[in-house]
Amino acid sequence: MLENRTIIVTGAAGGIGRATSLILGAAGANVVASDIDANGADTVEAIRSAGGTACFIRADVGSEPEVAALVRETVERYGRLDGAFNNAGVEQANVPLHELSIDQWDRAIRIDLTGIFLCLKHEITAMLENGGGAIVNTASALGEVAIPNAAEYVTAKHGVTGLTRAAAIEYGVKGIRVNAVLPGIIRTPMIDRAIEHPDFAAGFGKLLEHHPIGRFGKPPEVGEAVKWLLSDAASFVTGAMIPVDGGYRAI
Ligand SMILES: NC(=O)c1ccc[n+]([C@@H]2O[C@H](COP(=O)([O-])OP(=O)(O)OC[C@H]3O[C@@H](n4cnc5c(N)ncnc54)[C@H](O)[C@@H]3O)[C@@H](O)[C@H]2O)c1
Repeated sequence: MLENRTIIVTGAAGGIGRATSLILGAAGANVVASDIDANGADTVEAIRSAGGTACFIRADVGSEPEVAALVRETVERYGRLDGAFNNAGVEQANVPLHELSIDQWDRAIRIDLTGIFLCLKHEITAMLENGGGAIVNTASALGEVAIPNAAEYVTAKHGVTGLTRAAAIEYGVKGIRVNAVLPGIIRTPMIDRAIEHPDFAAGFGKLLEHHPIGRFGKPPEVGEAVKWLLSDAASFVTGAMIPVDGGYRAI
């Protein structure tokens, strides 16, 4: 489906990013697995072991020079950029809004929202050189609704859905499609960390009631949607918010 397409994945060391990188690699893409965490190199090893093509480039999505270098090195290595999965993110601090520190706010906005902006900016610049491309951003069900004690995360993810729509309408005629996936709860290291917080853990059972499918999701279930959105099979899909949430937004 993605034979010889060069695709950047951010947050590739973690749950959804790693699983999606493996799926894209198996579909024939040249996967540029990127993360702030050097463990992203393990994702590359797994793709290569399965016969795919991949490399690791470390980058902090909150740093414009590092994002610019990620895109530049990708183009130097593979000749062009065809796709991107802008997925790196950090979880909420689990505190009520009136107790949220400016540092907690700034961190979420910088990584979860500004990080998507910086990736879009530099990826689109490279894709304009090719005459097109496809981008998927990871938002969240919380890009459309809220939960308590997550004001900074909810705000950042609402920003991601807005940014996705803004980019889609600006670059559609230039051949660049921009969509977002909106996962419900997916069992990843992020959720394992969040659940260590007593307030989050106390509400966790209740969150299952928001998933009418009767369970939480698995990282490859997001990856399959991303693969489709990045492929030509989704050639008329842009500016779409695709829920991968077990029905979270249906109730
Ligand atoms: N797991 C869920 O239930 C869920 C639900 C909705 C949305 N999401 C979103 O999905 C995305 C992936 O989450 P996950 O659950 O796989 O989390 P994860 O913590 O397992 O993986 C996130 C990855 O992002 C990387 N990262 C963090 N800060 C970074 C930075 N500044 N620059 C580059 N990389 C950075 C981490 O090192 C990690 O490898 C996030 O955007 C998250 O908000 C997750």
